[in-house]
Amino acid sequence: RSLKWQLQCRSDIGRLNAPFLAIYESLIPPEEEKAKQKQLLTLLEKLVCREWPEARLYLYGSCANSFGVSKSDIDVCLAIDDSDINKSEVLLKLADILESDNLQNVQALTRARVPIVKLMDPVTGISCDICINNLLAVVNTKLLQDYAQIDVRLRQLAFIVKHWAKKRGVNETYQGTLSSYAYVLMCIHFLQQRRPAILPCLQNSALTPHSPPSWGGLCLIQGMEKTYSVIVDDIECAYFDQVEKLRDFGSRNGETIAQLVWSFFSYWAYRHDYASSVISIRTGSIKSKQEKDWTRRIGNDRHLICIEDPFETSHDLGRVVDKFSIKVLREEFERAADIMQYDPNPWVALFEPY
Ligand code: CTP
Ligand code: MG
Repeated sequence: RSLKWQLQCRSDIGRLNAPFLAIYESLIPPEEEKAKQKQLLTLLEKLVCREWPEARLYLYGSCANSFGVSKSDIDVCLAIDDSDINKSEVLLKLADILESDNLQNVQALTRARVPIVKLMDPVTGISCDICINNLLAVVNTKLLQDYAQIDVRLRQLAFIVKHWAKKRGVNETYQGTLSSYAYVLMCIHFLQQRRPAILPCLQNSALTPHSPPSWGGLCLIQGMEKTYSVIVDDIECAYFDQVEKLRDFGSRNGETIAQLVWSFFSYWAYRHDYASSVISIRTGSIKSKQEKDWTRRIGNDRHLICIEDPFETSHDLGRVVDKFSIKVLREEFERAADIMQYDPNPWVALFEPY
């Protein structure tokens, strides 16, 4: 491990750009999929409003954060006044309503960790999960979506990493590997840490010392003001969301997608300090496990790979990882890093089903 992190990137890396870009492009959902999702959401809104006129529906997850590949299911959040509702009753009622409107495979999972109603719309062919009042997910969806607007390399890298994780079987939280959400946070962190940085830190109102001093004029001098702010579950979620002003933030860094994929895997294989580091897109830096008090196992949280949630800061997205799955994950990162370093056609082996 110790020597490999000093590896220089292969000299023919430029040759790998076109194939990786082609894979990225093949994963982008076609426009008509978006239209079908809208159509289903409109139908659901109509049905929900009849029963709960005050309620609202929000899309969240990969159908709304711009990291969704083709043919994904959609995630919907029903926002409804909390004070005197019983979530299970609402879910069961909702399931009734949906079923009588001919939606199919309707199932209320009231005892799941996140209780949901599942359904399939026979008209659009889209499957959908509806949860209740999971508004932090709606807000973190907006944060990810805003980051994606700043530099296209984030979306390219995240698509490749998610595709790799699904093919290699390391995108299964119930088996102790990581969620898609966690992988996107890893990509954002990684691009915040490049020098020059490819992404800024939207939540940090103070200047990051590494920001290119010539960049951005006024906005940089004053730091990032919090132009968006909501309070959800007693957590203040605030950040700079005028991302159209940040479109050339990463332009001083000319790294291409192949270099970034190489470097991402080499970072997680050989350079990340699993023993003491926590990645934090909220601060745009590495924190120590010590300062988060994530140094030992508490209950089921083992903190073997630490990824801080940007808003629920006590939440480690790596908490699902156990002593067996951490080994699987790290071996997969090493495998991917070695393929990116030595394989003449790395895109074949990289996405080989496990
Ligand atoms: N989420 C969360 N906390 C988690 C996991 C998920 O808040 N520990 C929320 C996030 O808003 C995330 C959404 O749930 O965007 C869906 O999570 P996930 O299925 O991991 O991500 P998707 O982007 O939907 O990925 P996929 O394309 O694999 O469905
Ligand atoms: Mg999803």
